[in-house]
Parts: sequence; C-alpha cells; structure tokens
Amino acid sequence: MRILFITDPLETFKTYKDSTYAMMVEAASRGHQLFFCLQSQLSLVGGAVEALAQRLHLLDAGEGNDHGHGHDAWFRLDAPAATPVPAFDAVLMRKDPPFDMEYVTSTWLLELAESQGANVFNKPQAIRDHSEKVAIAQFPQFITPTLVTRDAARIRAFHAEHRDIIVKPLDGMGGMGVFRVGADGMNLGAIIETLGQNGVRTLMAQRYIPAIKDGDKRILLIGGEPVPYSLARVPMAGEVRGNLAAGGTGRAQPLSERDREIAQTLAPVLWQRGLLLVGLDVIGDYLTEVNVTSPTCFQEIMQQTGFPVAGMFVDALERAVAARAATKGS
Ligand SMILES: Nc1ncnc2c1ncn2[C@@H]1O[C@H](COP(=O)(O)OP(=O)(O)O)[C@@H](O)[C@H]1O
Ligand SMILES: [Mg+2]
Repeated sequence: MRILFITDPLETFKTYKDSTYAMMVEAASRGHQLFFCLQSQLSLVGGAVEALAQRLHLLDAGEGNDHGHGHDAWFRLDAPAATPVPAFDAVLMRKDPPFDMEYVTSTWLLELAESQGANVFNKPQAIRDHSEKVAIAQFPQFITPTLVTRDAARIRAFHAEHRDIIVKPLDGMGGMGVFRVGADGMNLGAIIETLGQNGVRTLMAQRYIPAIKDGDKRILLIGGEPVPYSLARVPMAGEVRGNLAAGGTGRAQPLSERDREIAQTLAPVLWQRGLLLVGLDVIGDYLTEVNVTSPTCFQEIMQQTGFPVAGMFVDALERAVAARAATKGS
C-alpha cells in the first residue's frame, strides 16, 4: 500500500517513544510505501483535494547523516509532489492537537477527499464530531459525576455536593489546566474565573477519583478490539495529573475486569463510526476521556509487554482498506 501520514514536522519526533514512528516502522517492514505531509500542505485545487507529499524512507541507526545536528537523522525524504489524496491507499491523520480551527479545516478537506475515494483514518467526520472530554457522557454507566457548564454558581454547587473535585478546560491536553479543589474550596473562585475567563468558556467539573494514585490508564482500541494491556500513567509525588507530559510514569499492566467491560462496550461502537484507533483514559473504574485525534502509548506498551501494538494497528489498517476496496469493487 501507499500510506500518507499527515503529522507534525518529522524533526520534532522522539523516535524512542513516538506512536506514529512505531506505525511507520511496522508498515515499512511489511513493504508498504510511506509518504508524509504536514497539515498545512493539504489544498483544494480545482475541485480535487491534494497533498504536497514526499516519499518517506526510514533510515537504520547510524545510516543517517545528521548534518551536524548532533542526533542521528532517522528519515530521508524524496522531492515533494502535489498528489491527489485519493491516490494513496490509506491516509493516517496523526497531527497532534490543539484541536483548533485549522484542525477542523483539515477534517473538512479530508472529508471531501473521502468523498473522492480516499480512505482516511480516523474518519474526518468522526474526529470532528467527537469531543474528547464530553464524549464520555455517551456512556453514562461508566463515568464519575460530571458537570459541563459555563455557570460559576453550578460549579460551586457541584463542589458543595462532592467536596473534592477536578476542574478542567474542555480543550486541554497533557494535563494542561487541570485543577483539584478539596473540601476547603480554596482557590475555587479564582480557578473558575481564570479557566472560564469569567463565563466565556465552558468548563468540566468532575468528582475527584482517588484511584488516580494508581494511575490514569490508557486503553487502546484498534479496529474495534481492545489492546489487552493498558499503560497506567502514575502521577509523580505531589501531582494530581498522571499525564506523561506532566511527569507521570508509564507502567504497562493487563486490563482489569472493569477495564475490559468498558473497552469491549465502547470498541465496536467507536469503530462503527470510523475511529480505527482510540485511546480511552480510565481512572480506577471510571472512563474520563475518549482520545481520537492522535492517541499514543504504543511504544511504552510494546517495550514493557512485548505485545505487538503497531502490528495489531497495521493489521487492522490493512483489513479496513481491503474491506473498502471490496465494497467499491462490487
Ligand atoms: N475526575 C478525576 N479524578 C482524578 N484525577 C483526574 C480526574 N480528571 C482528570 N484527572 C487527572 O488529570 C489528568 C488529565 O486529565 P484528562 O481529563 O485526561 O485531560 P488531558 O486531556 O489533559 O489528558 C489525568 O491524567 C488525571 O491525573
Ligand atoms: Mg488524558
């Protein structure tokens, strides 16, 4: 297959932990051809959606000339060529958030490319329609008490009821803007004003889940099936946020019975919507986030358990592309 990866600049990849890199290595090892472009290199030209794409070659360690950058180059690119997006067998949207208007615009362009025959994962419409934070409310049986509002008075009432709460913005990532407010309610007013910009922005408040001390578990769903191991991201001492970006430590572990129940309920529903790869966040027994833009943690799970996460992903991708080709051909 010819696979187009839409990603952040390749120079920014940390190849020892990047999930997109693990996908690339696995796909290349199976003889697939890799192509690369940035989100900014998608255009609609004369009715066709094009990517200014470059063939991407992975280099073995030691093979790359680093041109004095002090680290080994891991890739080599051919010259860019404007290529209709449907000319690729598969397109993987792996740009990291922020989920801003440029991201939304990319989903519009990719959705158009889809209507012109492209196979895009995750499905652009599904990425766009899906709030990583609010989507948990579609599965109310799995969530802790949760409030979404702009109304400061409602947040105060929620705090009065639950005593120990988390307040977070809807568009954060990597633990940014996540606050815990305990029984004394200290700082609640200032947190609501700051995060909510005086009622202009919608916030999420959630009952604090004490099981966070055992980690925020990332459960990957691939093509409608859970990966059998989660990565528990354990907060560092004195920190409430388990995100690796906030200094958390990743510890792979088998799914618990409850993890499995949550994963097996959500997996087929989300795959039906065109979400080939999803990263659930589960704290203790509760679903707290459904990540769909560019889920990670492949390498940590592969390194600690030997489970071939990237292999499972490329298997699912190959199956999905073959299934669509079969429908188109009939
Ligand atoms: N209800 C909660 N109870 C306890 N900790 C929470 C709760 N919600 C979030 N956190 C902490 O904040 C971190 C980030 O929250 P999350 O909702 O996953 O947002 P982000 O998009 O920033 O990852 C989690 O890893 C966890 O440590
Ligand atoms: Mg999270």
